[in-house]
Amino acid sequence: MRIFLNKKTSMYQIFRSIASSAMVFVLFFSSSLFAQDGATLFKNNCANCHSPGAKRGTGPGLQGFWDRIPGGDEAGKTKWLVNWVKNSAAVINGGKDEYINKLYAEYNNYPMQAQPHLSDDEIVAIKDYLVNYVAPVEDASGSSAKKNPFIESEQKDNTLLNWLLGLAIVFLVLAVALAGIKRNLQSTLDEKQGVTRQYLPFPKNLFKWMGEHKLQAGFIILLIKIILLVMLYDWTMGIGVYQGYQPEQPIKFSHAIHAGENGISCVYCHHSAEKGKHAGIPSVNVCMNCHKGIQEGTWTGTKEISKIYAAADYDPATGKYGDNPKPIEWIKIHNLPDLAYFNHSQHVVVGQIECQTCHGPVEEMTELYQHSELTMGWCIDCHRKTEVKMEGNGYYNKMLGELKEKHKGVDVFKVEDIGGLECSKCHY
Ligand code: HEC
Ligand code: HEC
Ligand code: HEC
Ligand code: HEC
Ligand code: HEC
Ligand code: HEC
Repeated sequence: MRIFLNKKTSMYQIFRSIASSAMVFVLFFSSSLFAQDGATLFKNNCANCHSPGAKRGTGPGLQGFWDRIPGGDEAGKTKWLVNWVKNSAAVINGGKDEYINKLYAEYNNYPMQAQPHLSDDEIVAIKDYLVNYVAPVEDASGSSAKKNPFIESEQKDNTLLNWLLGLAIVFLVLAVALAGIKRNLQSTLDEKQGVTRQYLPFPKNLFKWMGEHKLQAGFIILLIKIILLVMLYDWTMGIGVYQGYQPEQPIKFSHAIHAGENGISCVYCHHSAEKGKHAGIPSVNVCMNCHKGIQEGTWTGTKEISKIYAAADYDPATGKYGDNPKPIEWIKIHNLPDLAYFNHSQHVVVGQIECQTCHGPVEEMTELYQHSELTMGWCIDCHRKTEVKMEGNGYYNKMLGELKEKHKGVDVFKVEDIGGLECSKCHY
């Protein structure tokens, strides 16, 4: 009987522990799923203007917002938040919400964009994500010691070359000094022994040495030839190739601050990349969407942002526009010759290629540079290697069938298989 009871309890315990761990498992996953959802929703709808931490962007940093917003208890606050996110324009225009009136003034009358497409649950998911958000810990050097990225970017990294050059100079000095010492010793020795020696001037001296050391001389000449050849090759290959081209722009605009730190999506500014041939450079109006509110930068103060106002002919003190706006004269970095045809939307939308595949880690660049070669070989190389994403791609429904019909048993196709190597596709 005791054994039976024991058995029973242990079975019961096992069952209970399985059940409860399953429960924990489900809870854990649903909550992390939920948090993930909140993170994505936040990134897509709010991150253009808000940081989840304390940093001020177009709108306030949302760290600790839950404690400061009105509404009283949990339910009241939720109601307030849902209403604010869905109807911010109405709340602002109504002018009855003291909290918002104050905030609106503090943010230079910049109206938060209403987000009526979000459901109540989605807004709560965003709130949960924000409340649980832990800002990444800065390392010991700390953010207060963070260097000004605009100054750092001016120092190009030539460390290796400098080291080699330094080493070469040290060797040269040493060789000259040793040769001098040797000669001095020799001449004191000669003096003692009463020998007179004829010293040849430098070039003759060199030829004499070469005559006596044919193997070493041959080797050194070969080395010099190789170095010259490599330099010549580099130079000819470099003609018309501007990889790494990084001109100084009229305004110190940083992709690292905008696309990186503040998570603004590439196509917010380069929206025509999804629509047509050119990605385009944003007009000054796009800058004003945010910079009407953000009048000071962390690193450059008002110096650079005031150039935006000058271009837009906007007076931040009165908040009024003049009638003489002029475009900002950005210096073009990427430039294919006219004989070649390249289309952004073909690659970004149909081909589903990330901007970074061709442009490199733009979101880390304080000053933008050309990342890829942009040569014909570069285009062709990728067309040979890359599979066309045809499954579920409306653009190819018909073609995929035809290609599968033609190449039986094959179901992945590279860009070259759809004609990506034909001269006429890239040349007018
Ligand atoms: C276009 C920019 C913009 C977007 C997008 C945006 N906000 Fe805002 N938000 C603001 C601004 C600006 C304010 C300050 C009030 C004002 O000027 O309208 C603000 C204020 C707030 C506040 C009050 C902050 C505080 O410190 O009390 C909350 C909460 C808030 N936003 C949440 C959200 C959420 C959630 C989203 C995404 C669903 C979102 N916002 C999207 C610009 C934006
Ligand atoms: C806030 C607006 C904004 C965002 C967001 C933005 N850019 Fe830009 N981009 C600009 C401006 C302004 C320029 C011109 C100044 C410069 O070259 O730095 C530019 C220039 C470029 C250029 C070089 C254009 C040329 O002259 O050849 C590339 C490439 C580029 N951006 C890619 C990206 C990518 C990729 C992203 C996303 C990771 C991105 N941009 C996000 C505003 C933006
Ligand atoms: C398959 C490679 C590739 C991809 C992917 C790509 N680009 Fe480009 N991008 C280029 C080339 C090549 C040029 C030069 C075009 C020219 O000079 O006609 C260019 C030029 C640009 C320019 C300069 C202005 C212009 O339109 O010529 C900007 C800005 C730019 N790209 C942004 C982007 C952004 C943003 C994305 C992602 C949404 C992106 N690119 C994706 C290859 C690419
Ligand atoms: C979607 C919002 C948004 C847009 C659009 C935008 N910016 Fe910004 N910009 C920001 C934010 C956020 C900051 C960071 C402010 C800070 O340092 O606290 C910033 C900072 C800056 C700074 C100061 C950097 C520093 O740290 O000193 C300059 C200069 C600047 N932006 C130029 C531009 C230009 C030029 C354009 C248009 C091509 C533009 N911005 C478009 C949001 C935006
Ligand atoms: C990172 C890879 C990559 C690079 C680099 C690249 N392409 Fe492409 N390209 C693709 C892919 C993938 C497609 C297929 C897109 C699609 O599904 O239609 C494509 C398609 C094309 C097409 C249409 C081909 C057809 O048969 O419809 C043209 C034209 C083209 N690319 C031109 C260029 C040029 C010009 C360059 C260089 C300046 C270039 N591409 C660089 C990946 C690349
Ligand atoms: C995937 C796109 C693509 C295809 C396919 C392509 N080209 Fe090109 N071609 C380019 C690009 C981009 C340039 C300009 C690159 C540069 O200036 O280095 C170029 C440059 C050239 C040039 C100018 C010389 C030079 O190197 O600058 C010639 C000639 C040329 N291509 C011939 C051809 C011929 C012939 C074919 C067919 C066998 C062909 N191309 C197929 C993209 C392509």
